[in-house]
Parts: sequence; structure tokens; C-alpha cells
Amino acid sequence: KLAAVIFDLDGVITDTAEYHYLAWKELADELGIPFDREYNEKLKGVDRLASLQLILDRAGKELPEEEKLALATSKNERYKKLIQQVTPDDLLPGVKELLAELREKGIKVGLASASKNAGAVIRSLQVEAYFDHIVDAAAVEISKPDPEVFLKAAEALGVHPAHCIGVEDAEAGVEAILLAGMTPLGIGDPKLLGRAKKVVGSLEGMDVEKLSTLIS
Ligand code: BG6
Ligand code: MG
Repeated sequence: KLAAVIFDLDGVITDTAEYHYLAWKELADELGIPFDREYNEKLKGVDRLASLQLILDRAGKELPEEEKLALATSKNERYKKLIQQVTPDDLLPGVKELLAELREKGIKVGLASASKNAGAVIRSLQVEAYFDHIVDAAAVEISKPDPEVFLKAAEALGVHPAHCIGVEDAEAGVEAILLAGMTPLGIGDPKLLGRAKKVVGSLEGMDVEKLSTLIS
């Protein structure tokens, strides 16, 4: 029985996945490393330093730790500039309606994000009140595809993973949900998110009844 829905943030609640891409793209261009949307799929859901490593790996480039930290900080400065524009109008289609219905029906709502900027984005979207618990990168030691972030959210919500649906736009995220013993709902391309129980283009029209059929 459905007890909780645990959402990823970037690319699920709002299209900040695009801003992450744009910020990495600028950095990769400056470093002269080829980077495109296809390769970017591998970075989705992955934490900041691991994402940088994936970009460097592509060019077989090795850098000292402190240079990597400086580059990661530089990407984050670009990203923070981009998210200054985020407003409640940037909620993706169907999100607000689904959050409201979950609240109304007493189903717990969690957030499981790999981003250190998650709190700021949620505040800009003005949806904090819909979440019973938020787990962001600060609370997590191992990045997706490790299930830690989803398990921490379920624990804080007081629900068994088997009664949770996780919502994700990233391959690493779908994997994390499966490893947590939850049911994954994918947002995006079924070819990339094939391991999800179901994949939809957006949350528009998604409701508690449809979600319930995925786990019962
Ligand atoms: C994830 C994004 O939610 O957060 C990744 O999908 C991003 O693209 C990661 O790298 C870390 O985000 P931040 O804001 O801490 O750099
Ligand atoms: Mg995401």
C-alpha cells in the first residue's frame, strides 16, 4: 500500500537539470573538453565532485585535488547565478497538483536530492510546506546510485521502503530507488530509464490512484 512518495528535485520538481547542464557545459568548454547532452545523462543525479570527475574522465584529464575543488566551486557559482531566476512558475507541469493531492490524502512526501542547493531551490519554488522531510547532499555520505538518500528519507518519514514510490529523472536515481527496495517512477525517456516500473514524460495528470496501482 502506498505510504509515501519521495521525489528527486532537479529535473523532477523543476527543470534545474537544465541549469546544471548549462553550468557544466560552460566549464567544459573553457577546459576544452567535449561535453554534450548525451554525455550529460550520466551526470544527472550524481553529486558535484563526481560529476566533475566524469567530465575529466572523458578527456582522460587528471588534476590535483585542489584544482578539482576550485573547478567544482566555479561550476557552482555559475549554477547559483542561474537559479536566481527560479520562481513558483518554474514548477514542472502536474507537480503542484500532485503534491496537494498527496497532502490531502495523508500520504507522506519526501525529497531526496543530491544537491547542496536543494533547500534554496525549494524555497524559491515556495513548496516547502508540501514536504514532510527533505534529505539533501549535506545529510548524505554516498551519492546516487547508492540508495542512502532514499533510505534516509523513508526512515525520517517513518515508512517502510516497500510502501514508497521514488520519482526520478536520472538513471543513477532509478538505480538508487531500486536498491532502496522502493518502486521507481521515471520522468523522461523510457529508453534511458528502462529499469523504472513506469516512465512518463511529465507528472501532468499523475495522481494518487495511478501511483497506487504501481505498488499494489
Ligand atoms: C543533482 C543533480 O540533483 O545534484 C546533479 O542531478 C548535480 O546534476 C547534483 O550535480 C549536485 O548538485 P549541487 O547543487 O550540490 O552541485
Ligand atoms: Mg534529477
